[in-house]
Amino acid sequence: AKKIGVLTSGGDAPGMNAGIRAVVRCAIAKGMEVVGVHHGYNGLINGDIEQMDVRSVSEILHRGGTMLYTARCLEFKEQAGILKGKETCEKMGIDGLVVIGGDGSFRGARDLSLAGIPTVGIPGTIDNDISCSDFSIGFDTALNTAVEAVDRLRDTSQSHDRCSVVEIMGHGAGHLTLDTGIACGACAIWVNEVDFDVDRDIIQKIKSTASNGKHHFIVAVGEGITDVHALAKEIETKTGVETRATVLGHIQRGGTPTARDRVLATKLGVHAVELLEKGIGNRVVVIKGNTVVDYDILEALQMKKGIDKKLFEDAKLINI
Ligand code: F6P
Repeated sequence: AKKIGVLTSGGDAPGMNAGIRAVVRCAIAKGMEVVGVHHGYNGLINGDIEQMDVRSVSEILHRGGTMLYTARCLEFKEQAGILKGKETCEKMGIDGLVVIGGDGSFRGARDLSLAGIPTVGIPGTIDNDISCSDFSIGFDTALNTAVEAVDRLRDTSQSHDRCSVVEIMGHGAGHLTLDTGIACGACAIWVNEVDFDVDRDIIQKIKSTASNGKHHFIVAVGEGITDVHALAKEIETKTGVETRATVLGHIQRGGTPTARDRVLATKLGVHAVELLEKGIGNRVVVIKGNTVVDYDILEALQMKKGIDKKLFEDAKLINI
């Protein structure tokens, strides 16, 4: 490719900026021109695009969010939207594109590749639900943010002998909830991927651990599974332990990316440009066992990754 574009799509994730920086700097170092596309695929449809130079990406490595803005673009799910995107690329001489985002964004990347614009996807989402990759950009930061928040909840629940129910993001996937629960010593972890019963796995657990000397409790619940405020009332009624609920919400999406997320984003960004340099598109660049690899997008979208069931069982074993 001679001129490539980069965009971020879907929910933002800390470390996306590090990915943008790697793409821009790597492309320029290799003699290519680079443009930044604003607001995800929307910018491609309506030509909201900026020319990038090496200094355009200064001072963003350590910042959360995405300097290119992001969006979930419905129009790009339709053929007409894809054709508009393709036309913009042709008009501007963009002959390669890097898309940082989640599964939905990869579908757009595949469609654009099929339409003739080689496009490479990089996983960026706090949910870590990209099956073909061990980790996605933003997960490590969100995990550390959630852990810090739950540690704070622990202080106050410990002081009051309370139970703290905490709702953690994940868009139906339990990775963030499970790892936060493990790192914070939650007495119960409720995620979609496992068989769970409130009476057996929360109420009885609180009662049995209370009988051997435990006074405060953390219950980690994946977003969208249940109403955590109603659950808190139920726990209080059935166990007699005063209970409060907290929804962590978008706090988990912001903040300074961890070193791990910056390094991951840099590795993936460089690899994506190396593919486009050779004119290769329709690939997703991911991390597998600490090695950067790439897959055909369709193949990547068909892969399945569950949560770490052994880890879930380990938590039940030791949080007694
Ligand atoms: O995909 C990231 C994520 O934060 C999910 O965990 C959550 O379900 C969703 O995005 C929230 O979306 P929005 O930012 O549109 O409220």
